Amino acid sequence: MDNISSPAKKVMLSGIKPTGDLTLGSYLGAIKNWAERAEQYDCYYFMADLHALTIRNNPADLRRRTLEQLAQYVACGLDPQKNTLFIQSHVPAHAELGWVLNCYTMFGELSRMTQFKDKSAKNADNINGGLFTYPALMAADILLYQPDLVPVGDDQKQHVELTRDVAQRFNNLYGETFKVPEPFSPKVGARIMDLLDPRSKMSKSDEVGNGRVCLMDRPEDIARKFKRAVTDSDGERCVRYDPENKPGVANLMSIYSAVTGESFEEIEREFDGKGYGVFKPAVGEAVIEALRPIREEAEKIMKDKAYLETLCRDGAERASRIAYRTLRKVYKKVGLVAR
Ligand code: TYM
Repeated sequence: MDNISSPAKKVMLSGIKPTGDLTLGSYLGAIKNWAERAEQYDCYYFMADLHALTIRNNPADLRRRTLEQLAQYVACGLDPQKNTLFIQSHVPAHAELGWVLNCYTMFGELSRMTQFKDKSAKNADNINGGLFTYPALMAADILLYQPDLVPVGDDQKQHVELTRDVAQRFNNLYGETFKVPEPFSPKVGARIMDLLDPRSKMSKSDEVGNGRVCLMDRPEDIARKFKRAVTDSDGERCVRYDPENKPGVANLMSIYSAVTGESFEEIEREFDGKGYGVFKPAVGEAVIEALRPIREEAEKIMKDKAYLETLCRDGAERASRIAYRTLRKVYKKVGLVAR
């Protein structure tokens, strides 16, 4: 089935860069919400492997993680018949439009990106040009597909805002070319925090540690990580949603809520008078059960090389058809000679 040709449906697009193993944050903040929308939208999801090059990777690891991520997308419920799943570098239009949009994105705008500032502070020995111009490539990723909605976690919202500015600037200069997309973040799970440092986000690129849970973690490791999770130091020892004063507990509640569908009030009631010794393992168990089928399915897909190849090829073909339609329009508008 080819969902691209249904004009009535709105378009949704998002990506994740394969710089580390996917975490519970990637799942609850991104993929889980995507999977729930396949019926309503035409959906495009990709492995942002070109973006991954802004940091140094072991090449073999990058290749493995890119394919593993594709397998995990499918295992998380993204049906490749209903969603266009592809590897960014397999659709060269991304790099091509990325260059054009670099010329319509201002130095001042790029300098203001908080992620650029954070990442340069963390990697002082590798502040490369790609890290700086990254949002222009991200704008290209998005605008090629003319999406209505771009689901992202809180940390990526600023890049989507910049994409809107660049699209509007281009449209003002050359007439309607790009749809101006809206960022969209889930109510719960938009920001899953590190279990040991609940004031920083659970990141797939950080050192392997007990603060982050990966989709492929073994159940015993997940259980251990939740048992060790930081709660609070106010001595109250009660499960209450207060992100300001009890960020660790609030994070665990967000995770539990995202996984079980319970509201914060219901969780407070469920664990009333029970203390963290009961609450933490319960969150761990809920996460283990949510991730178990995903891990098992992803492992199965990873073993089926022929299926993975077909997925890559079909996804890139479908994506290219739409992407090149936009790129041709852009090239013409800016004055490049048609091939
Ligand atoms: P990346 O790879 O850092 O993260 C992928 C998506 O997961 C969300 N996310 C989280 N949400 C909640 N809690 C967390 N701890 C957490 N960690 C990550 C991110 O907000 C993001 O939505 N530049 C993008 C990738 C990208 C992209 C795009 C996204 C490239 N082109 C076009 C959308 C559209 C990135 O680095 O995300």
